[in-house]
Amino acid sequence: MNKKKDQTLKRVLAYAAHYRFLIFISMLMAVCSAGLTLYAPVLAGNAVDYIIGPSEVDFAKITRILVTMAIVVAITALCQFIMSWVNNKITFQVVRDVRTDAFNKIQILPFNFLDTHPTGETVSRIIADVDQFADGLLMGFTQLFTGIVTIVGTLIFMFYLSGRIALIVVILTPVSLLVAKFIATKSFNLFREQSTARADQTALVEEMIDNLRVVKAFSHEDENLEKFDEINERLANTSLKATFFSSLTNPSTRVVNNIVYACVALVGGISCITGNMTVGGLTIFLSYATQYTKPFNEISGVVTELQNALACAKSVFTLIDEEAQVPDVDNPADISEILGKIDVENVDFSYTKDKPLIENLNLDIKAGQRVAIVGPTGCGKSTFIGLLMRFYDVDEGSIKIEGKDIRDIRRHDLRSAFGMVLQETWLKRYNQR
Ligand SMILES: Nc1ncnc2c1ncn2[C@@H]1O[C@H](COP(=O)(O)OP(=O)(O)OP(=O)(O)O)[C@@H](O)[C@H]1O
Ligand SMILES: [Mg+2]
Repeated sequence: MNKKKDQTLKRVLAYAAHYRFLIFISMLMAVCSAGLTLYAPVLAGNAVDYIIGPSEVDFAKITRILVTMAIVVAITALCQFIMSWVNNKITFQVVRDVRTDAFNKIQILPFNFLDTHPTGETVSRIIADVDQFADGLLMGFTQLFTGIVTIVGTLIFMFYLSGRIALIVVILTPVSLLVAKFIATKSFNLFREQSTARADQTALVEEMIDNLRVVKAFSHEDENLEKFDEINERLANTSLKATFFSSLTNPSTRVVNNIVYACVALVGGISCITGNMTVGGLTIFLSYATQYTKPFNEISGVVTELQNALACAKSVFTLIDEEAQVPDVDNPADISEILGKIDVENVDFSYTKDKPLIENLNLDIKAGQRVAIVGPTGCGKSTFIGLLMRFYDVDEGSIKIEGKDIRDIRRHDLRSAFGMVLQETWLKRYNQR
């Protein structure tokens, strides 16, 4: 794994760490269910050894084994139920926390973030990406633990039963891991592209619906459609490729695992004939060989799913990591008494460096004075109001209210001191059904 992915994983784990107790329960259930799953073949093997030949079947002992088996299976099922319940709980709480952080971040992002990022893209990150990330996380939690525990447990049992055959299994299985790793690396990048394309599409749809009047007024439908088709095509292609590559994992690892199974059957069969192993022993071994390779299949599936989850998590974390607006000062000035005196001194401001807008603006407004700001469209009237309300900070100079620099006042206090009627408020009312 490369460094970037490691960091994303660390952050996901940091979120999960709040639910340590639940994770502990989940791991405990994983250990129990894996242990019991490993015990079942031993029971079956013993039962087989009680069937020696015609009229040489020990029914009393077999019945006892069957009853034990039923109990073992029931307890395993209960453990698995508790485990998936707990895992669901962990996942959805983590998702809730990530969304809370992302949403809180949006509240304190500077306005220029909104100017430079389409709304739909941000929506897609908080909604779609977090969902994908939850799916991956859920699969990961459920299968990774059980997988690892099963592998370790089976290894111990197999070496105990027959070191030689166990060695065959151990040597051959890593091949399937190598195959899985190769495919996983490839699909991480494809999933990342898929997430970008999805965000682009949401952004376009959102922008288009929001501004449908403008689109129609300028007969821009065809251009929009063309743009949409391009993104839609890109999304379809990357999704197809990503899914194709990730679905290769399972069949490829399965081939390797079936070869392992065949080898165990061959060597085990020979051991039975030479008398080194009982038929029941071989039965146990064959179940272990499948049980040992199965988690490898599942883990490789989990790995691809986790790749997708991590790619999506990364895009949410980028949002959470965006630089917030300059925080309010520690000792804010008190403006409880507002008379209406405003001083604007040598103010420079522009949205983008290369397009100067307001330069060296000076205003001296006395308390109670009425001022109208008039000018051609695009001259900066709304911008000036935005500066007064501190939606943006001035580049140079200062704005003072009652002699106090607005940067020394809490944003909340400053904005409460104003009465503002937005053009958009009226438009939204108009749009409401
Ligand atoms: N968020 C923004 N990012 C970049 N440029 C912007 C942004 N908002 C406005 N501008 C640009 O800044 C200039 C001033 O815009 P502003 O909205 O202040 O004009 P205005 O005087 O209120 O015009 P109108 O009379 O149409 O309301 C315009 O050229 C506009 O395109
Ligand atoms: Mg305006």
